[in-house]
Amino acid sequence: MKDLKSYIRTIPDFPSEGIMFRDITTLLGNPAALKHTIDLLFGHFRNDRVQMVAGVEARGFVLAGALACRLGAGFVPIRKAGKLPHQTIEEKYQLEYGEAALEMHLDAFGAGDRVLLIDDLIATGGTAGAAMNLIDHLGGDVVGAGFVVELPGLGGADKLRARCDKVVSLVS
Ligand code: PRP
Ligand code: HPA
Repeated sequence: MKDLKSYIRTIPDFPSEGIMFRDITTLLGNPAALKHTIDLLFGHFRNDRVQMVAGVEARGFVLAGALACRLGAGFVPIRKAGKLPHQTIEEKYQLEYGEAALEMHLDAFGAGDRVLLIDDLIATGGTAGAAMNLIDHLGGDVVGAGFVVELPGLGGADKLRARCDKVVSLVS
């Protein structure tokens, strides 16, 4: 198996000038790389008695769904505001310019459930921090967070490590 990094392509100036966008659709589209990614995440969290895997829209859904199935856990969607049909809780977070909000269903899991957070990538950590706040507000026990890519220059993963013992990224 080649290094996972080699399956991720970089698109310059997307979505705006100066941004080097790490695009994991090429990894998701390769059967061996996708399987290896899920195998690696499974290896990190297999002994954590995970009950629910919370995935962040949109690319996080793909990974979280596959991993939940592998772990024998349920899947919880964390979505951008206005997308979930039932009662939600909302958490605002900062973007580079302005603000956005994430939502999760109020009845997504029970207090004390062991929840793993999954997304494709952590950059500033704003998204993952907000997602973790949502899980906290519902009384979930955050057992860890997993990402395919960590962008270390932005410090998001380190910020998250300050509040969660187990933050895993496969590629830096
Ligand atoms: C990307 C990525 C993470 C987030 C990371 O999603 O999938 O969710 O940004 O950035 P942060 O650590 O600085 O918060 P994006 O907001 O582009 O949404 P999308 O998945 O719907 O395209
Ligand atoms: N790829 C995907 N999502 C992102 C990126 C990236 O390079 N930077 C911030 N969010």
